[in-house]
Amino acid sequence: MQLYQTKNYEEMSKKAAGIISAQVILKPDSVLGLATGSTPLGIYENLIDGYKNGDIDFTQVKTVNLDEYKGLGSENKQSYRHFMNSNLFDHVNINKENTNVPNGLEENIEFECDRYDNVLNDLAGVDLQLLGIGNNGHIGFNEPADSFTKGTHYEALAQSTIDANSRLFEECEVMPTSAYTMGIKTIMDAKTVLLVANGKGKAKAIKEALTGPITPKVPASILQMHKNLIVVADEEALSELNNNK
Ligand code: F6R
Repeated sequence: MQLYQTKNYEEMSKKAAGIISAQVILKPDSVLGLATGSTPLGIYENLIDGYKNGDIDFTQVKTVNLDEYKGLGSENKQSYRHFMNSNLFDHVNINKENTNVPNGLEENIEFECDRYDNVLNDLAGVDLQLLGIGNNGHIGFNEPADSFTKGTHYEALAQSTIDANSRLFEECEVMPTSAYTMGIKTIMDAKTVLLVANGKGKAKAIKEALTGPITPKVPASILQMHKNLIVVADEEALSELNNNK
């Protein structure tokens, strides 16, 4: 594991964006696994700046997102497809046909999970998977469970995830309570995993994920077994880890 401690969110975002840019510069047709949520917003801003400055070219890049709320389509501004379009894809020279997000509107769970796994198979492997981490240690929407998941599946969201993510929904909006998500095995198959975290709220999850027992009760703990894990986190997110030294 390579661990980079940054002073704050801005530095975390810059550092992680630098790693993603390097991946694309070294391999212009990279397959990037992408995440949504508050943590990667600064990373995407930096990538957009990198594109505008002429440092990164997305024309050959392909992307595959971790997850999507079940029941939300691209026209819904809370959907992860909408998030990716408005926070990254609409601002860089990526071909939208090369971007993939599970289809939250697909009612047939088996069909959608098979379809997304086929998309992943056709891409022949994710070069770099960007991950945030939930307060409960989830990655993608793989919630604490009795066993590690494999491929794309339907997941009922944990109450702690609903509590954490409902902050992003307006009072009049109904937050979905389930999602489609890439499985843990798919995430582990990525050549490089880039885990990012900021803020005190993530300190316990980061400590458990990086130093605790490897258990599906803390899904991110499996990352300890990844051959090429890069962690970029700010001082606050690493505070419990540092206290432990
Ligand atoms: C998002 C995702 C989630 C988030 C996690 C942290 O696509 O897969 O695992 O990375 O819930 O979310 P934030 O960054 O909002 O704290």
